[in-house]
Amino acid sequence: MPGVAIKQGDANGGCLHEKPSDPCAIVIFGATGDLSFRKILPSLQALSCDKGLPEDCIIIGVARSALSIDEFRQRIRISLEENGAAMNNWDSFSQRVFYQSVDLTSMDAFSELAEFIKAKGNEFGTNNTIFHLAVPPTAYETIARGLAHAGLSRENGNWVRLIVEKPFGHDLVSSHRLNEALMEGFSEHQIYRIDHYLAKETVQNILMFRFANAIFEPLWNRRYIESVHITASEKLGVEHRAGYYDHAGVLRDMFQNHMMQLLALVAMEPPSLYEADRIRDEKTKVYRSLRPFPTNDLDSYLVLGQYAAGMMDGQFVPSYVKEPGVASDSLTPTFAAMKIFIDNWRWQGVPFYITSGKRMAEKHTEIEVRFKEVPHSMYRNILGEHITANRLTLSIQPREEVRLTFQAKAPGPAMCLRNVTMDFDYSQGSPIRLSAYEKVLLEVLLGDHTLFWRQDSINLCWSFLTPILMECDCPDQAERLHLYKAGTNGPHRVRQCWPDTEV
Ligand code: BG6
Repeated sequence: MPGVAIKQGDANGGCLHEKPSDPCAIVIFGATGDLSFRKILPSLQALSCDKGLPEDCIIIGVARSALSIDEFRQRIRISLEENGAAMNNWDSFSQRVFYQSVDLTSMDAFSELAEFIKAKGNEFGTNNTIFHLAVPPTAYETIARGLAHAGLSRENGNWVRLIVEKPFGHDLVSSHRLNEALMEGFSEHQIYRIDHYLAKETVQNILMFRFANAIFEPLWNRRYIESVHITASEKLGVEHRAGYYDHAGVLRDMFQNHMMQLLALVAMEPPSLYEADRIRDEKTKVYRSLRPFPTNDLDSYLVLGQYAAGMMDGQFVPSYVKEPGVASDSLTPTFAAMKIFIDNWRWQGVPFYITSGKRMAEKHTEIEVRFKEVPHSMYRNILGEHITANRLTLSIQPREEVRLTFQAKAPGPAMCLRNVTMDFDYSQGSPIRLSAYEKVLLEVLLGDHTLFWRQDSINLCWSFLTPILMECDCPDQAERLHLYKAGTNGPHRVRQCWPDTEV
């Protein structure tokens, strides 16, 4: 099994990660773009500081701009310095960075790229390749075909891997089409579809928490759980991404990927082994069991919203439709809350409330498991019928903690209860932390698919969301869109529909 990096913690609670050893060329398409400079190149540079990049790796930036290798290196240097990166390995790192200008519309340019990669590979003794598509999704198909045409996707005693960023299509049809284009040259085992949520430490902890402890699993089902609430709220607005976001909206941007992953991790059955395909098989079963939305009663299951102007941290922020690049009559949702059910034995009848929105009061991502009340209150004569039920919160960000609330006697002569909390701060005693992108790149170098989407799951999620996407894409859906003030907890409609749902 390729490089799975699970190890017991050492005496200090640290955990060593496995170091990939195969030399390779990492070819970044869109190398001069935002993603490359903000995430990919800094992560590679950080990994090269003894954190996991094999010494014989080379990096080849590819983009349309006519840049020399030195100019490309210089731009990386400036950007790293501006972001306060440790530069002690700069000389050795930069000597392994190259650049090639490629016109994506020309198949000949891909053949030239193949020559360039081969020449550099011979010079540095590497014949494995990772292609990272850090380009707008509209370019994925062209690049995948260009790579296949130039013979760059073929494995012949070496390995070739392709990293694809979300979104994986715009809907089920386009996702199929994209996949067909990828499959012309690549096989599923070569493709790594990134979901940066899976690389978050606290997201990875969900499986450990559930399946490395015996005490929670017996309670993790419809007998003891009342509801599950998965929330990812953000303070940020659409920023400079209107071109993409106004066509995507929150359902495609957050639900089709990150929220669905969180749902699968909290709902899946235990796999027999911590191994990529066994884990992905169990997630796929969850998606297969999702109850389809009743299209004749969508209002009971879905609330969509869009942010209006408001105050955030004492500053006025404009409404979504006044953001640069957004159409003034845009009906794109920036908020969604949905109630969904999983039709299997474990979860029958348990609602999962999934909520995500931009320009909300605070940034937080968490999963809250609400347990049922005690079946009978022996304190009903003094405390009434209801005793607040237990809650378990897996808090992903910005707090990284596991919190259990339960009832205890309030100290003193009277018989009173109080809500108390037991919590575990995730960051305690963990010296080695990788950023989400460092982690993702490391896993690709190791050839481990655990943190990546598989196409069958993607198809199932698109199918599940299709009825509501069709509604949202309908020009007469305006009445379904509830405005909420920036800096608040989303539309009032959510509280009207589901009074117990707090964001
Ligand atoms: C991205 C979305 O995938 O995730 C963004 O495209 C969103 O719109 C971001 O802001 C949220 O990620 P995080 O890690 O900040 O929760």
